[in-house]
Amino acid sequence: MTGSDAAASAASSGAAAPSGSAGPSPHGDDSLYERLGGAGPLEALVDHFYRGVAEDATLRPLYPEDDLDGARQRLAAFLVQLTGGPRRYAELRGDPRLRMRHLAIPIGPAAAAAWLARMGDALAATPLPPGPAGELRSYFERTAAFLVNDGGLSLRGEAPGGSAPGT
Ligand code: HEM
Repeated sequence: MTGSDAAASAASSGAAAPSGSAGPSPHGDDSLYERLGGAGPLEALVDHFYRGVAEDATLRPLYPEDDLDGARQRLAAFLVQLTGGPRRYAELRGDPRLRMRHLAIPIGPAAAAAWLARMGDALAATPLPPGPAGELRSYFERTAAFLVNDGGLSLRGEAPGGSAPGT
């Protein structure tokens, strides 16, 4: 499977894939995963993000009290797969179905803003090539808006890219 296939399959499962969001890659068909530098930089990004979540008064109560490390592993596996790397998330959890998986979590505009702020901190603190980092950032912004399920935006289940969530 190519990187874009992997991203497309994640997209059809309710996630908005980052591919194509920042124009053509200067390196032809290389996946976003390769352009980011592989699993290492993505793991570093997610580690930083969860250190922020642990200290965030809005976000921390939403996450499992005793399993922040499990949450960290799930997000890292998802991002590796989404960007075109090994299908780690499929092995761990199956179909991403991001919107469905977030429905049990009350995500209002403040939680989405806090999530994006913590991820913004993590992006700033992780040495990533600027183009691919920008693609990730734009993906996170679209997806966070799509996952709001408690007041604020009324997206009625429409993914930003038009893909049906949870299917
Ligand atoms: C909008 C604000 C968001 C909030 C408040 C939020 C919160 C959460 C919480 C509390 C969990 C459960 C933790 C766990 O045990 O895995 C979770 C899981 C997850 N989130 Fe988010 N999230 C947000 C946005 C996003 C975004 C933008 C992405 C896309 C990268 C994302 C990807 C995931 C993934 C892949 C999981 C694991 C799902 C699973 O396998 O069960 N989340 N999120």
